Amino acid sequence: MDWGMKNRLSKIIKPGNSRCVMLAVDHGYFLGPTERLENPRETIGPLLNYADSLMLTRGVLRTSVIPESNTPIVLRVSGGSSIIGEDLSKETIVTSIEEAIKLNASCLALSIFVGSKYEFQTLKNLSKLVNEGEKYGIPVLAVTAVGKEMARDSRYLGLACRIAAELGAHVVKTYHCPDFDNVVEGCPVPVIIAGGKKLAERDALQLTFDALKDGASGVDMGRNIWQSDNPVAMIKAVRAIVHENFTVKEAFDQYSGTSVMTEAIRKKSRNKTVSI
Ligand code: 5RP
Repeated sequence: MDWGMKNRLSKIIKPGNSRCVMLAVDHGYFLGPTERLENPRETIGPLLNYADSLMLTRGVLRTSVIPESNTPIVLRVSGGSSIIGEDLSKETIVTSIEEAIKLNASCLALSIFVGSKYEFQTLKNLSKLVNEGEKYGIPVLAVTAVGKEMARDSRYLGLACRIAAELGAHVVKTYHCPDFDNVVEGCPVPVIIAGGKKLAERDALQLTFDALKDGASGVDMGRNIWQSDNPVAMIKAVRAIVHENFTVKEAFDQYSGTSVMTEAIRKKSRNKTVSI
């Protein structure tokens, strides 16, 4: 592997422990203004320094992230469908490699829809992106998207992850599921998990813990962080599990402690405002 490729990958998967906390804020590319991500700048700002990397589209990067940021960028370059459109799997590559280089992307991200109507097209997209990325030393994160109906079992996800790796993806993002260790075992590149729909904070921490225990290299998490009532405390708790080997209880206690403290500070400042 070339130096540039290794260097960029080391910004995504930390070399010390081979783990990663990627913050996903790319949801708008097919969902529009998702709840609590309506104003991306406000959502991203407080979380930026706690993420190992940030996954987003060029539009949100340009408009909503300060260019002085040191957080490595995972640029979502696939798109072309919407939640109300004909078929979510009908994606193409929407951002050129030159643009990704201009934006100083450390990694390129693209969805594949194995088993869908547009399977061939999305796998062709991945192959093309890997060819381009290899030319310039930029790794590719393949997202094994499941569309609206596909099952999330280890047989299906194992198939999708393995195909992504065979086509040259450097990292694969998928979903946790029963027998997830089989998915990881069958995939020769690092596997990270999406958080999926918002869960209770403790459950999201349990999901993170279980995925790591089953061999995942980390998370690419969105809604379970920024839809939490205390997003900063939540990303810190996720980090504690991924990077400091906290148990779920320890991480949740840390989350709850920080939440209580934040609430106390809020109350204090509300009281102050009233007394002035
Ligand atoms: C959508 C994505 C999201 O980035 C991914 O699903 C992670 O976000 P969340 O944790 O909210 O599921 O790739 O296709």
